[in-house]
Amino acid sequence: GIKIVTIGGGSSYTPELIEGFIKRYDELPVREIWLVDINKGKDKLNIVGNLAKRMVEKAGLPIDIHLTLNRREALKDADFVTTQFRVGLLDARAKDERIPLKYDVIGQETNGPGGLFKGLRTIPVILEICKDMEELCPDAWLVNFTNPAGMVTEAVLRYSPIKKVVGLCNVPIGMKMGIAKALDVDASRVQVDFAGLNHMVFGLDVYLDGKSVKEEVITALGNPQNEMTMNNIAGFAWDRDFIKGIGLIPCGYHRYYFKTDEMLAEEKESSATKGTRAEVVQQLEKDLFELYKDPELNIKPPQLEKRGGAYYSEAACSLIDSIYNDKRDIQPVNTRNNGAIASIPDESAIEINCVITKEGPRPIAIGDLPVAVRGLVQQIKSFERVAAEAAVTGDYQTALVAMTINPLVPSDTIAKKILDEMLEAHKDDLPQF
Ligand code: NAD
Ligand code: G6P
Ligand code: MN
Repeated sequence: GIKIVTIGGGSSYTPELIEGFIKRYDELPVREIWLVDINKGKDKLNIVGNLAKRMVEKAGLPIDIHLTLNRREALKDADFVTTQFRVGLLDARAKDERIPLKYDVIGQETNGPGGLFKGLRTIPVILEICKDMEELCPDAWLVNFTNPAGMVTEAVLRYSPIKKVVGLCNVPIGMKMGIAKALDVDASRVQVDFAGLNHMVFGLDVYLDGKSVKEEVITALGNPQNEMTMNNIAGFAWDRDFIKGIGLIPCGYHRYYFKTDEMLAEEKESSATKGTRAEVVQQLEKDLFELYKDPELNIKPPQLEKRGGAYYSEAACSLIDSIYNDKRDIQPVNTRNNGAIASIPDESAIEINCVITKEGPRPIAIGDLPVAVRGLVQQIKSFERVAAEAAVTGDYQTALVAMTINPLVPSDTIAKKILDEMLEAHKDDLPQF
């Protein structure tokens, strides 16, 4: 049987993962799931872990759920390691979102200064996990959700010996579902050619039953009635002429780059009234854990779909299923470029449709991205690389360069102010600085 280890097991998303493994048990015989957390997350781990136990019991399956604070004990002989941890928890995210706003810069957990700092906190931890894996389960696959997932995958590829790493995100699934809804068809009939970077992915073309419907989808994207977005991103309609002009389907996160002023105004307004997204999620999480505590509950509650990461386990479980069973189906994942996008270095992480085999994802080459977006994608990739280097070295100047070259930060002067304030605010979670 298969041994799964989930790091950050106390996450409110864990029931999704458990549901995904239960649904696929016949073809994916998971025998052990080890949920790993840290002392700070002990209470969450217990509550969600007990729900996980009730879920497998209700399903009548011989899956053993283990709860532990000892990562090394859990990792021994694992087959798949999934990571969904949040260094500094939601309080740290609230700082990532709030501090940049003071300087009229987007405050977001995976873009701009917030994305940089989430990376600085997360990368040293993922590299420690990789070291443990090398020793304790060298043949295992690392399936990472921890954000910023693109930068984290890049860091693993560059700074660790682990080569069996895949980064995952629910944005591509979310785009596909949004398109299906706008066209009023079942999502299983829709296919999208995805390529780009994590949270910077484009649909190059879209098909309904194999026939291109890109024009229809572009028209739908300009309709304010179709909020094609994630729960955590304001869903402003796109300018139809702009989208027709680039000839691509953008993802929700592209609004931070192409609608920066509207998004900034919206963030300022909502952070002052209902709180930043982290603060909204803190309340959502409280409500979810109250539900999870109910000893009668033995399924994933539908309220979990209010989180931006809704359905992310669909991506995780399908990926693991296809690797284990050598399915050779197509899934959009974060993997080593290997020439699939010509203007991105071979060794960098990209998010792209891949054929999923037992040797891992094989990216489907696209040639190159259209010139209109190529530069932005390269700039974000440069930002991710410099940020990953700063996370590994703890070098101040490298961090300042990362902050300054991010397209959402207007100058070196403002970059330095934000950097200094955020380094101070996060110092407990940044031992390398
Ligand atoms: P969360 O705040 O609930 O954190 C999950 C758990 O991680 C907590 O229980 C916490 O105690 C634990 N943790 C913190 N540091 C740890 C460490 N060093 N080792 C082990 N556990 C540790 O977070 P969440 O909202 O459930 O999100 C989890 C992560 O997944 C975040 O990084 C988030 O950005 C990411 N995420 C990614 C996607 C995606 O599309 N890739 C979707 C949703 C969430
Ligand atoms: C999805 C993204 C994730 C992100 C999450 C935030 O859009 O793909 O990477 O972390 O939503 O959701 P939340 O509910 O935490 O705001
Ligand atoms: Mn994501």
